[in-house]
Amino acid sequence: MSLSPLEHIERRIERQLRFIELKRGAIGRRIGWRLRDFEQKSFKRDEFRFFRSLIEKPLTVGAVAPSGKALARVMANYVDPRVPGPIVELGPGTGPVTEALLARGIDPARLTLVEYDPDFCALLRQRFPAVNIVRGDAYNLPQTLAGVLHEPAAAFVSGLPLFNKPLKTRLDLLDQAFDLMKPDAPFVQFTYHAISPIPRSHGRIRAEASGRVWRNFPPAQVWVYRKAGDR
Ligand SMILES: C[S@@+](CC[C@H](N)C(=O)[O-])C[C@H]1O[C@@H](n2cnc3c(N)ncnc32)[C@H](O)[C@@H]1O
Repeated sequence: MSLSPLEHIERRIERQLRFIELKRGAIGRRIGWRLRDFEQKSFKRDEFRFFRSLIEKPLTVGAVAPSGKALARVMANYVDPRVPGPIVELGPGTGPVTEALLARGIDPARLTLVEYDPDFCALLRQRFPAVNIVRGDAYNLPQTLAGVLHEPAAAFVSGLPLFNKPLKTRLDLLDQAFDLMKPDAPFVQFTYHAISPIPRSHGRIRAEASGRVWRNFPPAQVWVYRKAGDR
Protein backbone atom coordinates (compact mmCIF):
# COMPACT_ATOMS: atom_id res chain seq x y z
CA MET A 1 0.00 0.00 0.00
CA SER A 2 1.51 3.29 -1.01
CA LEU A 3 1.20 6.26 1.34
CA SER A 4 0.83 9.89 0.42
CA PRO A 5 3.62 12.29 1.54
CA LEU A 6 1.26 13.69 4.20
CA GLU A 7 0.51 10.20 5.57
CA HIS A 8 4.23 9.49 5.67
CA ILE A 9 4.76 12.58 7.82
CA GLU A 10 1.84 11.63 10.12
CA ARG A 11 3.23 8.09 10.59
CA ARG A 12 6.63 9.52 11.38
CA ILE A 13 5.20 11.94 13.96
CA GLU A 14 3.23 9.08 15.58
CA ARG A 15 6.41 6.97 15.83
CA GLN A 16 8.31 9.89 17.36
CA LEU A 17 5.52 10.52 19.88
CA ARG A 18 5.46 6.84 20.87
CA PHE A 19 9.22 6.94 21.30
CA ILE A 20 9.03 10.12 23.46
CA GLU A 21 6.25 8.59 25.62
CA LEU A 22 8.30 5.41 26.16
CA LYS A 23 11.37 7.47 27.07
CA ARG A 24 9.35 9.69 29.43
CA GLY A 25 7.95 6.66 31.28
CA ALA A 26 11.38 5.07 31.52
CA ILE A 27 12.94 8.30 32.85
CA GLY A 28 10.11 8.75 35.41
CA ARG A 29 10.56 5.17 36.61
CA ARG A 30 14.32 5.65 36.76
CA ILE A 31 13.94 8.82 38.89
CA GLY A 32 11.48 6.94 41.14
CA TRP A 33 13.89 4.05 41.55
CA ARG A 34 16.83 6.40 42.16
CA LEU A 35 14.85 8.11 44.95
CA ARG A 36 13.86 4.71 46.41
CA ASP A 37 17.52 3.69 46.19
CA PHE A 38 18.55 6.83 48.12
CA GLU A 39 15.78 6.09 50.63
CA GLN A 40 17.23 2.62 51.30
CA LYS A 41 20.76 3.90 51.80
CA SER A 42 20.21 7.29 53.39
CA PHE A 43 20.12 7.86 57.13
CA LYS A 44 17.62 10.63 56.25
CA ARG A 45 15.25 7.96 54.92
CA ASP A 46 12.04 9.61 56.19
CA GLU A 47 12.95 12.89 54.54
CA PHE A 48 13.48 11.14 51.18
CA ARG A 49 10.27 9.13 51.50
CA PHE A 50 8.39 12.31 52.37
CA PHE A 51 9.97 14.22 49.48
CA ARG A 52 9.04 11.46 47.00
CA SER A 53 5.43 11.55 48.23
CA LEU A 54 5.44 15.34 47.90
CA ILE A 55 6.54 15.06 44.24
CA GLU A 56 3.87 12.44 43.55
CA LYS A 57 1.01 14.12 45.48
CA PRO A 58 1.89 17.74 46.29
CA LEU A 59 -1.54 18.88 47.56
CA THR A 60 -2.11 15.81 49.75
CA VAL A 61 1.30 15.88 51.43
CA GLY A 62 1.49 19.67 51.64
CA ALA A 63 4.89 19.92 53.37
CA VAL A 64 8.52 19.67 52.31
CA ALA A 65 9.64 17.59 55.30
CA PRO A 66 8.21 15.64 58.24
CA SER A 67 7.61 17.67 61.43
CA GLY A 68 10.66 18.02 63.64
CA LYS A 69 10.81 16.75 67.22
CA ALA A 70 10.18 20.20 68.74
CA LEU A 71 6.93 20.75 66.80
CA ALA A 72 5.78 17.16 67.42
CA ARG A 73 6.35 17.65 71.17
CA VAL A 74 4.36 20.91 71.25
CA MET A 75 1.44 19.10 69.57
CA ALA A 76 1.62 16.09 71.89
CA ASN A 77 1.77 18.33 74.97
CA TYR A 78 -1.78 19.52 74.25
CA VAL A 79 -3.02 15.94 74.81
CA ASP A 80 -3.56 14.99 78.45
CA PRO A 81 -2.72 11.27 78.80
CA ARG A 82 -4.81 11.11 82.03
CA VAL A 83 -8.06 11.78 80.14
CA PRO A 84 -9.32 8.31 79.16
CA GLY A 85 -10.55 7.38 75.68
CA PRO A 86 -9.18 6.92 72.18
CA ILE A 87 -6.88 9.47 70.56
CA VAL A 88 -7.09 9.95 66.79
CA GLU A 89 -4.24 11.27 64.66
CA LEU A 90 -5.10 12.51 61.16
CA GLY A 91 -2.39 12.56 58.46
CA PRO A 92 0.44 10.99 60.50
CA GLY A 93 2.81 10.71 57.48
CA THR A 94 6.02 9.02 58.63
CA GLY A 95 4.95 9.27 62.30
CA PRO A 96 6.89 12.04 64.12
CA VAL A 97 3.79 13.18 66.04
CA THR A 98 2.82 9.57 66.78
CA GLU A 99 6.26 9.10 68.30
CA ALA A 100 5.82 12.22 70.47
CA LEU A 101 2.37 11.03 71.64
CA LEU A 102 3.85 7.66 72.65
CA ALA A 103 6.79 9.40 74.36
CA ARG A 104 4.22 11.39 76.35
CA GLY A 105 3.06 8.12 77.85
CA ILE A 106 -0.01 7.42 75.75
CA ASP A 107 -0.75 3.70 75.49
CA PRO A 108 -0.36 2.66 71.79
CA ALA A 109 -3.64 0.72 72.03
CA ARG A 110 -5.44 4.07 72.53
CA LEU A 111 -4.09 5.50 69.27
CA THR A 112 -5.86 5.37 65.90
CA LEU A 113 -4.03 6.84 62.91
CA VAL A 114 -5.91 7.85 59.75
CA GLU A 115 -3.60 8.10 56.73
CA TYR A 116 -4.48 8.30 53.04
CA ASP A 117 -1.13 7.34 51.51
CA PRO A 118 -0.71 3.52 51.30
CA ASP A 119 3.12 3.74 51.45
CA PHE A 120 2.95 5.79 54.66
CA CYS A 121 0.42 3.27 56.07
CA ALA A 122 2.80 0.36 55.38
CA LEU A 123 5.64 2.24 57.06
CA LEU A 124 3.49 3.16 60.08
CA ARG A 125 2.38 -0.49 60.51
CA GLN A 126 6.03 -1.54 60.59
CA ARG A 127 7.04 1.25 62.92
CA PHE A 128 4.10 1.16 65.36
CA PRO A 129 2.78 -2.44 65.38
CA ALA A 130 0.62 -1.88 68.48
CA VAL A 131 -1.15 1.20 67.05
CA ASN A 132 -4.40 0.96 65.07
CA ILE A 133 -3.81 2.26 61.52
CA VAL A 134 -6.72 3.04 59.24
CA ARG A 135 -6.09 3.73 55.56
CA GLY A 136 -8.75 6.23 54.57
CA ASP A 137 -9.92 9.77 53.97
CA ALA A 138 -9.71 12.01 57.02
CA TYR A 139 -12.21 14.44 55.46
CA ASN A 140 -14.90 11.75 55.62
CA LEU A 141 -14.64 10.68 59.27
CA PRO A 142 -18.10 9.09 59.67
CA GLN A 143 -17.22 6.59 56.93
CA THR A 144 -13.50 6.22 57.66
CA LEU A 145 -13.96 5.67 61.39
CA ALA A 146 -17.24 3.70 61.20
CA GLY A 147 -16.99 0.87 63.75
CA VAL A 148 -13.47 1.96 64.80
CA LEU A 149 -14.10 4.15 67.86
CA HIS A 150 -16.12 2.48 70.62
CA GLU A 151 -16.30 5.57 72.85
CA PRO A 152 -15.90 9.33 72.36
CA ALA A 153 -12.32 10.39 71.63
CA ALA A 154 -10.18 12.22 74.19
CA ALA A 155 -8.40 14.21 71.46
CA PHE A 156 -7.84 14.61 67.73
CA VAL A 157 -4.36 15.56 66.53
CA SER A 158 -4.03 16.62 62.91
CA GLY A 159 -1.12 17.08 60.51
CA LEU A 160 -3.45 17.55 57.52
CA PRO A 161 -2.49 20.41 55.19
CA LEU A 162 -5.79 22.18 55.90
CA PHE A 163 -5.05 25.31 53.87
CA ASN A 164 -5.08 23.15 50.70
CA LYS A 165 -8.82 22.65 51.27
CA PRO A 166 -11.69 25.16 50.98
CA LEU A 167 -12.91 26.67 54.26
CA LYS A 168 -16.17 24.71 54.12
CA THR A 169 -14.25 21.39 53.99
CA ARG A 170 -12.12 22.48 56.98
CA LEU A 171 -15.22 23.43 58.99
CA ASP A 172 -16.97 20.17 58.05
CA LEU A 173 -13.90 18.23 59.23
CA LEU A 174 -13.95 20.02 62.58
CA ASP A 175 -17.69 19.38 63.01
CA GLN A 176 -17.22 15.68 62.16
CA ALA A 177 -14.39 15.42 64.71
CA PHE A 178 -16.39 17.25 67.42
CA ASP A 179 -19.23 14.73 66.90
CA LEU A 180 -16.76 11.93 67.73
CA MET A 181 -15.14 13.63 70.75
CA LYS A 182 -15.83 14.13 74.45
CA PRO A 183 -17.09 17.57 75.44
CA ASP A 184 -14.20 20.04 75.72
CA ALA A 185 -11.73 17.61 74.07
CA PRO A 186 -9.01 19.33 71.97
CA PHE A 187 -8.58 19.24 68.20
CA VAL A 188 -4.86 19.95 67.77
CA GLN A 189 -3.62 21.24 64.41
CA PHE A 190 -0.35 22.65 63.13
CA THR A 191 0.15 25.15 60.35
CA TYR A 192 3.04 26.95 58.66
CA HIS A 193 0.78 29.94 57.99
CA ALA A 194 0.60 33.07 60.13
CA ILE A 195 -3.16 32.72 60.62
CA SER A 196 -5.44 30.04 62.03
CA PRO A 197 -6.73 27.46 59.47
CA ILE A 198 -10.12 27.86 61.19
CA PRO A 199 -11.10 31.55 61.47
CA ARG A 200 -10.87 32.66 65.12
CA SER A 201 -14.08 34.61 64.65
CA HIS A 202 -15.96 31.35 64.00
CA GLY A 203 -18.73 31.35 66.58
CA ARG A 204 -18.90 27.61 67.30
CA ILE A 205 -15.31 27.14 68.46
CA ARG A 206 -12.86 28.32 71.11
CA ALA A 207 -9.31 28.62 69.73
CA GLU A 208 -5.92 28.96 71.38
CA ALA A 209 -2.46 29.07 69.79
CA SER A 210 1.06 28.07 70.78
CA GLY A 211 3.98 30.40 70.19
CA ARG A 212 5.76 30.01 66.85
CA VAL A 213 7.90 26.86 66.84
CA TRP A 214 11.10 28.16 65.24
CA ARG A 215 12.99 24.87 65.56
CA ASN A 216 11.08 23.36 62.68
CA PHE A 217 11.46 23.56 58.92
CA PRO A 218 9.49 25.61 58.05
CA PRO A 219 8.67 27.26 61.42
CA ALA A 220 5.13 26.40 62.47
CA GLN A 221 2.40 27.16 64.98
CA VAL A 222 -0.01 24.86 66.78
CA TRP A 223 -3.70 25.68 67.12
CA VAL A 224 -6.12 24.00 69.51
CA TYR A 225 -9.86 24.11 68.85
CA ARG A 226 -12.61 23.19 71.28
CA LYS A 227 -16.34 23.31 70.79
CA ALA A 228 -17.76 26.56 72.23
CA GLY A 229 -20.05 26.08 75.21
CA ASP A 230 -18.65 22.64 76.09
CA ARG A 231 -17.17 23.72 79.40
C1 LIG B 1 1.90 17.85 56.12
S1 LIG B 1 1.96 16.06 56.10
C2 LIG B 1 2.12 15.82 57.86
C3 LIG B 1 2.73 14.48 58.23
C4 LIG B 1 3.08 14.30 59.72
N1 LIG B 1 1.93 14.47 60.57
C5 LIG B 1 4.14 15.27 60.11
O1 LIG B 1 3.84 16.15 60.94
O2 LIG B 1 5.28 15.14 59.63
C6 LIG B 1 0.25 15.67 55.74
C7 LIG B 1 -0.12 14.22 55.86
O3 LIG B 1 -1.54 14.13 55.71
C8 LIG B 1 -1.85 13.03 54.86
N2 LIG B 1 -3.16 13.31 54.24
C9 LIG B 1 -3.48 14.30 53.36
N3 LIG B 1 -4.78 14.25 53.03
C10 LIG B 1 -5.31 13.21 53.73
C11 LIG B 1 -6.62 12.67 53.82
N4 LIG B 1 -7.63 13.18 53.11
N5 LIG B 1 -6.82 11.63 54.65
C12 LIG B 1 -5.79 11.10 55.39
N6 LIG B 1 -4.53 11.58 55.33
C13 LIG B 1 -4.28 12.61 54.51
C14 LIG B 1 -0.70 13.01 53.86
O4 LIG B 1 -0.59 11.77 53.19
C15 LIG B 1 0.48 13.31 54.80
O5 LIG B 1 0.93 12.14 55.42
